[in-house]
Amino acid sequence: MILNKIIVLIGYMGSGKTAVGKELSNLMNLPFIDLDTLIEKEENKSIDKIFSENGELYFRNLENKYLNNILRGSDIKIISLGGGTPCYFNAINVLNNNKNIVTVFLRSSAEILAERLFKEIDKRPKIKFLTSKKNLVDYIRKHLFERNQFYNQSKYVIDTDDKSIISLAYEVKSILT
Ligand code: S3P
Repeated sequence: MILNKIIVLIGYMGSGKTAVGKELSNLMNLPFIDLDTLIEKEENKSIDKIFSENGELYFRNLENKYLNNILRGSDIKIISLGGGTPCYFNAINVLNNNKNIVTVFLRSSAEILAERLFKEIDKRPKIKFLTSKKNLVDYIRKHLFERNQFYNQSKYVIDTDDKSIISLAYEVKSILT
């Protein structure tokens, strides 16, 4: 039964993984772990600082290490990944091949993502160098083209555009129960 599984939320930056994960955690009364938040807490450093001081490769190794750590415990929980987590180190296959895990892709359009991300672009190491919304939409489109091959391997895909966080949380819950 899916209810007995670890629920892993996957999707691009700004797709609502963290907000939906928190809401779902309330609805289902399950513990919630946000991978980025966990890394920042454990490393005592912001993701942005890890990127700027140690580089992206260092960050990717770190996020994969913490992902494996939290998957080691088989207790049921909800996890929201970073946008890049399933795209490195064969992580999407590791997740999908684990019978205790169910992966859910929160799919959003490049336009909606750009709209949300432009407001907080300074905090996002992957996109902070972009200077206009138009450049951001183009970047996201290209990036999604590369990343969708990983995201689309998720067991479930949910379209998020024009939906509220609470309705998305109910939608995830309904496909799992
Ligand atoms: C990243 C997404 C971020 C964070 C880091 C890199 C990415 O997570 O892990 O900035 O490569 O897409 P969120 O998707 O939670 O913002």
